Amino acid sequence: MSKVAVVFWSATGNTAAMADAVAEGARGNGAEVTVLGASGFSGVNVSEYDAIAFGCPAMGAEVLEEEEFEPMFASVESFLGGKKIGIFGSYGWGDGQWMRDWKDRCVSAGASLVNDGVMANYAPDETAIEECKDLGRALA
Ligand SMILES: Cc1cc2nc3c(=O)[nH]c(=O)nc-3n(C[C@H](O)[C@H](O)[C@H](O)COP(=O)(O)O)c2cc1C
Repeated sequence: MSKVAVVFWSATGNTAAMADAVAEGARGNGAEVTVLGASGFSGVNVSEYDAIAFGCPAMGAEVLEEEEFEPMFASVESFLGGKKIGIFGSYGWGDGQWMRDWKDRCVSAGASLVNDGVMANYAPDETAIEECKDLGRALA
């Protein structure tokens, strides 16, 4: 059974709803899934999982949330070489620049990205929830 972590940050619940759907998809494909807040994860935890989904909304000015998620992600980046990962998150008024920048960071880190980043405009609609489940299935 593969071990999948879903590591996310969410202020108003939109990315949290996406995280639940990713976890559901991964469990549906037989993975053992651990769902964690960003503050509960760091670089030393990467090797404990076969695959990791990271979720964070667009914050600041098209950046990852800066107090918890960004420091956590900066700490895991150097451990992501060859690791199967996926990224997801909610956004508001932007055009997804935060996700494109984040994807580039993952590629630079040598991660094995299974997607281009699942995005939901504010609360995830049915399509976004399905994309999140697909992401979970792909990681399992
Ligand atoms: C302080 C702050 C900064 C934000 N910056 C952006 C931004 O740069 N681009 C964007 O598209 N949305 C931005 N948003 C909107 C959030 O990404 C959006 O509300 C999202 O649904 C929040 O996700 P959550 O419910 O998981 O916290 C911002 C929201 C807040 C509160």
